[in-house]
Amino acid sequence: MCGIIGYIGNKNAGRILLNGLKRMEYRGYDSSGIAVIDGGIEVKKKKGKISELESLIDLSKYDNYFSGIGHTRWATHGEPSDVNSHPHVSRNGKIAVVHNGIIENFSWLRTKLTTKGYKFISQTDSEVIAHLIEYYAEKTGNYLDGLLYALSRLEGTYGLAIINSDFPDRVVAARKGSPLILGIGNDDTLVASDISAIIEHTRKVIYVEDGEVVDITKDGFQTYDIDKNKVDKIVENVDWEINGIEKQGFDYFMLKEIHEQGETIRNAFRGRILSDFGSAKLDGLNLSAEDLKKIKKIIFLACGTSWHAALVGEYLIEEFAGIPVEVEYASEFRYKRPILTENDLVVVISQSGETADTLAAMREAKARGVKVLGITNVVGSAIARESDGGTYIHAGPEIGVASTKAFTSQVTVLILFAILLGRRSLITLENGLKYLKDLEKIPELVGRILENSDHIKKIALKYSGASNFLYLGRGIHFPVALEGALKLKEISYIHAEGYPAAEMKHGPIALIDENMPVVFIATKDEVYYKVLSNMQEVKARGGKIITIATEGDEEVKEFSDDVIYVPESEKITSPLLTVIPLQLLSYYIAVERGCDVDQPRNLAKSVTVE
Ligand code: G6P
Repeated sequence: MCGIIGYIGNKNAGRILLNGLKRMEYRGYDSSGIAVIDGGIEVKKKKGKISELESLIDLSKYDNYFSGIGHTRWATHGEPSDVNSHPHVSRNGKIAVVHNGIIENFSWLRTKLTTKGYKFISQTDSEVIAHLIEYYAEKTGNYLDGLLYALSRLEGTYGLAIINSDFPDRVVAARKGSPLILGIGNDDTLVASDISAIIEHTRKVIYVEDGEVVDITKDGFQTYDIDKNKVDKIVENVDWEINGIEKQGFDYFMLKEIHEQGETIRNAFRGRILSDFGSAKLDGLNLSAEDLKKIKKIIFLACGTSWHAALVGEYLIEEFAGIPVEVEYASEFRYKRPILTENDLVVVISQSGETADTLAAMREAKARGVKVLGITNVVGSAIARESDGGTYIHAGPEIGVASTKAFTSQVTVLILFAILLGRRSLITLENGLKYLKDLEKIPELVGRILENSDHIKKIALKYSGASNFLYLGRGIHFPVALEGALKLKEISYIHAEGYPAAEMKHGPIALIDENMPVVFIATKDEVYYKVLSNMQEVKARGGKIITIATEGDEEVKEFSDDVIYVPESEKITSPLLTVIPLQLLSYYIAVERGCDVDQPRNLAKSVTVE
């Protein structure tokens, strides 16, 4: 995790670095820091959010600094503290480093350097990098050679930005396993972990690849591999809008992103509907008709909310296309000797396209010779680039740590994928047309649910004091129940569990009493009456029931303490509607409890460490 930034140009470096860090704060917010060159290295760093760092800094003093580096931290090695904050400075005080990743052999390197007289002041793995570069720069008599040699000694992952007070007009950046993007402005250059720190300066970017080092000076930049061979790079354009990274009047990014979902769902299906054929096209998949026919099994790999989207995908594809699907936690898949055969298709789902476990699982699958597709949001991310094909969800930047619009966009793409596959088997032309027509109506229906936010807020306030919640759903709404519970846990710190509604009686039922709110998803489908029975079981034990029901359903009121209605839709699109009230419910509960919705404790948006 963590966000790093480097800048060189002709503007106030302090301002650019701080601003960039704020844009990336969702990557980690345990501490932050910046370093510029003022004869020697001048560092400011502080435990806590970036506002803490800001209070240390008088930006007017940075008018004459035109280069520097910065860091926002999600702690791995060493507690959040001032001393463990980045940048870390080498023994001679000349080299400062910011690091995103984990140096696995840091302990060994630390011991070696200690025997050579180096002293360590932090508990981090990252400090070793600063000393190691100094050591080899002195040994080789050449800064870049020493730096490259030092990097070759590091095991683990890194995105790095490095400054050296002997070379005030130079920032060196390097990547192995952690994201790194170069932004090329008219008269300045930035390097950052994330596009959001770059797009207000330039849309021209270069994706730095693993094993590459970029030497950035006032006159331009040169990319090398670790053996100092020059590498030519392609400049690409990013089309994300600046609006995407502003709150635009909403109290929190999460609320803004919840409200964007009508639009983002539309963006996910726009141009992908084949109206004449009742089918869908997802061009980037790179699968011919012959390839599609051969698929015997699909394996989804993902983490967190993306894993829940994958579970929805499992229900969709099995029911509508008749193809067996397995959904694996990426973190488990990579260590369990997965059994993959020639006609299996692996589909990796990741909003960021950078999650370390998902990336590693994808590489594992690729190494086994299976075709791997990626469903991602971040253009140019590692998963997007390394997969054999795939599709973007086009949700725009998602800043709130708890994922909302990315989930519904992922599900939208999975609906299209299920239809595309299903039209070769179980879905008739007539049904294909019906489902797609229904999908086109979803943005408007999402708008109708959002208009009902005040009612959802009232319910949220009523239950905001609860210590535990249960979320229950059946079939395609079971993953939605899991997602509802995850949202609540993430942002309000209330313990919440998602279960298949019928499975409740095999354990969770023991937890039910008058203090336990139970959220049921009980829309009108083939399991509706089964879910009503489960509701009665809860009611009989005094539990409080909040029901997500289909508009016009009066029957459900009999068993519910509170009802939130969603418009009627086809089953295939229904998760896109039922999840919205659950997102709002957790949002309002978290706000009522005074939680920091966009930056919940201990979490980070993209987890680029194992
Ligand atoms: C983190 C985030 C979650 C996200 C998960 C997977 O845990 O806090 O919101 O769902 O990572 O991220 P990805 O980018 O791979 O979808």
